Amino acid sequence: MDNDYLLSQATGGFVNTDIDEKMKEELGSKELPEDYVKLMRDVAAEGIVMLKNDGVLPLSSETVSIFGRVQYDYFYVGNGSGGDVITPYQVNLLEGFDNTSKLNYNKELAEIYTTWCKNNKPDPGSWGTWPTNYEEMPLTDEIIKNARSKSNTAVLIIGRSAGEDRDSTLTEGSFYLTKIEEKMIEDVSSVFEKVVLLINSGNIIDFSWYEKYENKINALLYVWQGGIESGNAVCDTLSGDKNPSGKLTTAIARNYSDYPSSENFGGEEFNNYVEDIYVGYRYFETFAPEAVLFPFGFGLSYTTFDISVVNEVELDEDNEIHLKVSVTNTGVVAGAEVIQVYHNPPQGVLGKPARALIAFTKTNEIKPGSTEIVKCATHTDYMMSYDDSGKTGFKSAYVFEAGKYEIYVGNSVRSAKKIGSIEVDELILRYQMTEVAAVEEKNKFKRLVAKANADGSFLKEYEDTPTRTVSLKEQILAQIPEEFTKPTEPGEYSLNDIKEGKITIEEFVATLDINELEALTRGDYIMNSPLGAPGNAGVFGGITESLRKKGVIPITTSDGPSGVRLRRYAAQLPCGLAIASTWNGRLVEKLATEQGKELDEKGSHVLLAPGMNILRNPLCGRNFEYYSEDPFLSGRIAMFMVEGLQSHGKSACPKHFVCNNQEQFRSINDSRVSERALREIYLKGFEYCIKYTEPNHVMTSYNKINGVWGHYHFELCNTVLRDEWGYEGTVLTDWWMKPCVDPDFPNLSNDAYRIRAQVDVLMPGGFAHFETHGDGSLLESYNKEDGVTLGEIQRSAANVLRFVMYVLYDKPHTWKRRS
Ligand code: BGC
Repeated sequence: MDNDYLLSQATGGFVNTDIDEKMKEELGSKELPEDYVKLMRDVAAEGIVMLKNDGVLPLSSETVSIFGRVQYDYFYVGNGSGGDVITPYQVNLLEGFDNTSKLNYNKELAEIYTTWCKNNKPDPGSWGTWPTNYEEMPLTDEIIKNARSKSNTAVLIIGRSAGEDRDSTLTEGSFYLTKIEEKMIEDVSSVFEKVVLLINSGNIIDFSWYEKYENKINALLYVWQGGIESGNAVCDTLSGDKNPSGKLTTAIARNYSDYPSSENFGGEEFNNYVEDIYVGYRYFETFAPEAVLFPFGFGLSYTTFDISVVNEVELDEDNEIHLKVSVTNTGVVAGAEVIQVYHNPPQGVLGKPARALIAFTKTNEIKPGSTEIVKCATHTDYMMSYDDSGKTGFKSAYVFEAGKYEIYVGNSVRSAKKIGSIEVDELILRYQMTEVAAVEEKNKFKRLVAKANADGSFLKEYEDTPTRTVSLKEQILAQIPEEFTKPTEPGEYSLNDIKEGKITIEEFVATLDINELEALTRGDYIMNSPLGAPGNAGVFGGITESLRKKGVIPITTSDGPSGVRLRRYAAQLPCGLAIASTWNGRLVEKLATEQGKELDEKGSHVLLAPGMNILRNPLCGRNFEYYSEDPFLSGRIAMFMVEGLQSHGKSACPKHFVCNNQEQFRSINDSRVSERALREIYLKGFEYCIKYTEPNHVMTSYNKINGVWGHYHFELCNTVLRDEWGYEGTVLTDWWMKPCVDPDFPNLSNDAYRIRAQVDVLMPGGFAHFETHGDGSLLESYNKEDGVTLGEIQRSAANVLRFVMYVLYDKPHTWKRRS
């Protein structure tokens, strides 16, 4: 039942492929603003990561032969809520070539592919069964020979997809190449003089075949899934109109088994995050540098840069380090470079990754022979460690252990050079926190720790993960909120009275009856609610007549990361991984600003984006929506997205809070992870984004985190998010909730359990066959001793209404709780 419910909810009654002629009329104009289109094209091009180029690129005007069916059947973005946008058009690779006057291609070969593709249309599949690849066209010797007679250079393209409810798998056609794809590489590369290989995927795929063909592959580019402008963006890069400046946001290993989470991924009931804080490059740089094929932060350009730091590494009185980095273009074409700053902290008693990103800046486009001085600022707070064990003497605290914090600067984690260090004389307690969300004693496991050898290398050791020592029940009871005070003048009030200053939001909430309060804590039950713009993901807020009479409007939500998913034509953005690979916050913000405008114009209030879970394993189906294996980079990119999206008075909704690192079994799987790894890796990106940009909404995850589902997680959604980070917005569930009795309070179940955690709104609202009051669990608990309190329900109602006030009256700060 759970699964059927999920599927029907998640499809929202329509997908791109369902559009019929009649519906087309409802979809509105296909026109997109020119600036918006240009930005999508620029971001898609700037996100492309060039992993090899021996000089074959940029292409000259010579005729190239293009191989691989994806030239026609391109993968523009991944599948599911993060990809399914009704697009006015999409530019595939062949169209991109057609649109680029500088490039020429073998039309005869393209015609063979096009005809074959038309006759062998891929089955689009349905929810959760979308194709991960399309069957490749078999090549005959004759096709290759003919093509060779027309061109010296071959462009090969291989495509992959994954999605929501659709992890990649360790099979051919998903993570691995198919035999026919490998044969295509082999046959084409043995005949053509030059070979350019493009990977069109939103996930990292297997590269174990690469070294076998490396000598025959002259250029290799990860072109990701670039949204509607994909083909144009790729051709901008191939032609040299755009000089590649994208960098990997995740390391690429030689084999799947090299990835640190490979043995602990895919579990049905749970995954132990044994690799702990050693995620991605943090693991490789510490324990297994040789397992890396392409390092984190790596990406080539058509030019070269000389990078040098001009000032000393010094801490100022605000604990900041300000670096001035001189970047000189030493090549012959203009280009931009990403300056990356890492630190190598002392091992101390906790053990630490040998490198961690603490700052980055992208230069402007630098002309050949010119120099730009870029400023890179960082703060020591990006360098602290969390002690969840008490080994340092400070349990549940952020500390700096004594020793040298070496600073490295360069254009990838591997190339970064040591430029100085900061000395910490003795252990510093930076922030004393309280223990949250630790592993349950019954589920404890051994986690990875580093033991430094005298020669600077590290041994892998394993230790017991610290387990929970605090009572959740006591924490909750200590924080039950008071009921709001009623206005001094009794009467019927509306939101306008708050605006007029007659009453406060809290006083208004105190006038609402329990049915109105209950209605504010859930959506209007279904996706595509009649109360919102057609094709919406769900509506909450003014979902009853009585609330609307008081001025509470319905709030429309829509997906998502790659476009405004309504029953309207909409822009389809490059996938998240492509966006993050630009490492260009300013550009990302401009794109998001256009998307925020589109959201507003199309009648939606909340965009269910950015998706910002950490790329823990290359198989996670939603990696295409997410940004990086690094929390600093994820947090930064998300900040710029949120700033842009919210610049038109509406809301972003960072998701999925937290540890949605696998799609299969996502609603039953428990992510078992140490508090240290939670705080240093999985929560950290959210922390940066939320503290600095104040999104109006946050979405929880489907999965459990150390035994508690994301939508019931008091410690994460209340203690961390609100008490520690000062978050003042609304928390939405992901689009469903697992029915459950609160183990600490048997009179609380489902909605009551959720409200106690201050997860304010169940989306899209519950089960469609309920007519009122969701499943009744909130009101049922409300009347019971030890049940949910009026103060708790009012608190969530007020969180919702603050955003309604913001939408109506556009004065964000007036309605906030704190001054
Ligand atoms: C996804 C969310 C999405 C929601 C609404 C869920 O299945 O996990 O990311 O925003 O559906 O479409």
